[in-house]
Amino acid sequence: MDQQMFEKVDGYISQLLAPEDEVLRQTIKSLDEAEMPQISITANQGKFLQVIALMCNAKKILELGTLGGYSTIWMARALPADGKIVTVEFDPHHASIARKNIENAGLLEKVDLRVGKASEVMEQLKESGEINFDLIFIDADKPPYKEYFEAALDLARPGAVIICDNVIREGKVLDENSSDDRVAGVRRLNQMLSENTKVTATILQTVGAKEYDGMAIAFVNK
Ligand code: SAH
Ligand code: DHB
Ligand code: MG
Repeated sequence: MDQQMFEKVDGYISQLLAPEDEVLRQTIKSLDEAEMPQISITANQGKFLQVIALMCNAKKILELGTLGGYSTIWMARALPADGKIVTVEFDPHHASIARKNIENAGLLEKVDLRVGKASEVMEQLKESGEINFDLIFIDADKPPYKEYFEAALDLARPGAVIICDNVIREGKVLDENSSDDRVAGVRRLNQMLSENTKVTATILQTVGAKEYDGMAIAFVNK
């Protein structure tokens, strides 16, 4: 088993169960055109988030880290007609590309794109009583992941699901002395998840078209 096999199998699964339409293909293309990084989730992972959204009956979703809106579009498509996803993006250039992609997807009505720092937007949401999110996807900068998760807990309803991308980092997470502050950041999150009695959590390793990584998945205890 090697990366080549993981990629082939990912292609097999995606073709079967997570085929991209023109909107999603164009969203990926827009990242190259705008010289943005190709760090969106994979098609399969998009479908995974859709399945989770349906399982927790999500009407209100919060996402940290929009990039070009690829994951946003996957999740928004799992929402009911009156559902909403708030997605937070710090970089105005990324946000402007994402807005175009979301518009192209016909999803402007369901997507509330907020340009700002994840920590500040979460504080605003809390202050204005925009709480009780059913699903929260954390995929912004990695060093403050633990703080993002703790803030997310205040915005989640009992029984909500919180998912954090990139918590394994090609296995670098095993290195407790890592000088990479992204690795140290996800290690702090993972340790906290093991101690936090408010959630029931685990981590799924992810292999496929992108580099070896993992997603933490947490249930907010009722
Ligand atoms: N969820 C996207 C990928 C997100 S990449 C997808 O799968 O399609 C991470 C994004 O987080 C980048 O666009 C980056 O600009 C943004 N970001 C980084 N730091 C941030 C912060 N403090 N607040 C909000 N967004 C941030
Ligand atoms: C990076 C960020 C991501 O969210 C991701 O899925 C992959 C890579 C990064 O910053 O390198
Ligand atoms: Mg990610």
